[in-house]
Amino acid sequence: MSLKKILIGAALATSLMAGTVAAEPKVEVLHWWTSGGEAAAVKVLMDEFTANGGTWTDMPVAGGGGEAAMTALRARVLSGNAPSAVQIQGPAIQEWHEEDALSDLSDVASAEGWDALLPEAIAKIQKCEGKFCAVPVNIHRVDWMWANPALLAKAGVSMPQTWAEFNDAADKLKAMGITPLGHGGQPWQDATIFDAVVLGIGGVEFYKKALMDLDLDALGSDTMVAVFDQMRKMRGYVDDNFAGRDWNLATAMIMNGEAAFQIMGDWAKGEFTNANKTPGNDYLCAPTPGGAFIYNVDSFTMFKVDGDDKKAGQKLLAKLIMGEKFQTAFNLSKGSIPARLGTDLSAFDYCSRRSSYDLNIAASNGSLVPSHAHGMAVRGVFSGAVTDVVTNHFNSDMSSQDAAKALVAAIKNAE
Ligand code: GAL
Repeated sequence: MSLKKILIGAALATSLMAGTVAAEPKVEVLHWWTSGGEAAAVKVLMDEFTANGGTWTDMPVAGGGGEAAMTALRARVLSGNAPSAVQIQGPAIQEWHEEDALSDLSDVASAEGWDALLPEAIAKIQKCEGKFCAVPVNIHRVDWMWANPALLAKAGVSMPQTWAEFNDAADKLKAMGITPLGHGGQPWQDATIFDAVVLGIGGVEFYKKALMDLDLDALGSDTMVAVFDQMRKMRGYVDDNFAGRDWNLATAMIMNGEAAFQIMGDWAKGEFTNANKTPGNDYLCAPTPGGAFIYNVDSFTMFKVDGDDKKAGQKLLAKLIMGEKFQTAFNLSKGSIPARLGTDLSAFDYCSRRSSYDLNIAASNGSLVPSHAHGMAVRGVFSGAVTDVVTNHFNSDMSSQDAAKALVAAIKNAE
């Protein structure tokens, strides 16, 4: 008999002796982790849950950035049949709390001491009216640039330190017939590049004013016009077949030498890792020029459900997610770094250690900022309005001036 069966049997015997039968933990998990690297990461969680006696029902909804998953979630909640555990990000947690849809995780949080295990800024996102209503699995960095070293060598360029250097390198590559930027034309991917460009061209204070405070002066400013000028350049660096391409296929272009750079969060590293590629040899990583850190934290919320088995499943899942063993194994696959403080990073590669190092610096000097593109900075109605303008500009010949004006109008309209 396996150790697992013996342990489960012993637990059952104890509860029978106490006159109760503990409900068998069950979860149905809605997530959008369907690429190779993402699926490897979610398997870590699934295996951990089943090894602890739980039954896992998987509900993957394909679509990078999670828009399709969030649409599926709304449909399930409206039909009165919410999944018990849901991958979610940032202010959307509060929005669901306001709908009275989320379970309170205070019991698990205080039993496990979550407050002491999380950086304050991350803990804050997980709380609804001061109580834990979500649990974080990771910290992703969004402002990353990935590159194919052989293509850079061929063009005689190195990893750019400034946007001007990026443009020079991209122009050289393009002149040689090499696609400078591996990109997928989907609104959230355009918005991911926009996050990095706003930070790089405008600086961290401008990023905060424009994308966190939605300050109309900043949105309509000359600096924003310069941001759109750079976005127009980025559009000139993608290949002809970029429309609709999934992000992981763009990452594969870097791996296969079909494009030189990709600007994408470090879930892209999950793809490289899943393909047994190592940084420094097979690919390069460097923060996009900007001197800050744009974060994107994946959390799980537990939706209100009936049934002791489901409730037991939610508690078990929440507890396991914050465990050091899980945070290590999951993030090694996912490309992100653990949200849990003090997790040993010795098994992590150079890019992850760089991420952790830069995160600490950014947290101490006020340059740690939430990703706008990934729904961490503002509520959905506003981030959707900004992303629409960014995508419309990227996919048309709209001028930079008109795009900045359209941003102001979109935010006024959403208010
Ligand atoms: C992000 C999410 C990541 C990754 C990515 C691509 O929003 O935080 O975990 O899955 O989308 O789907």
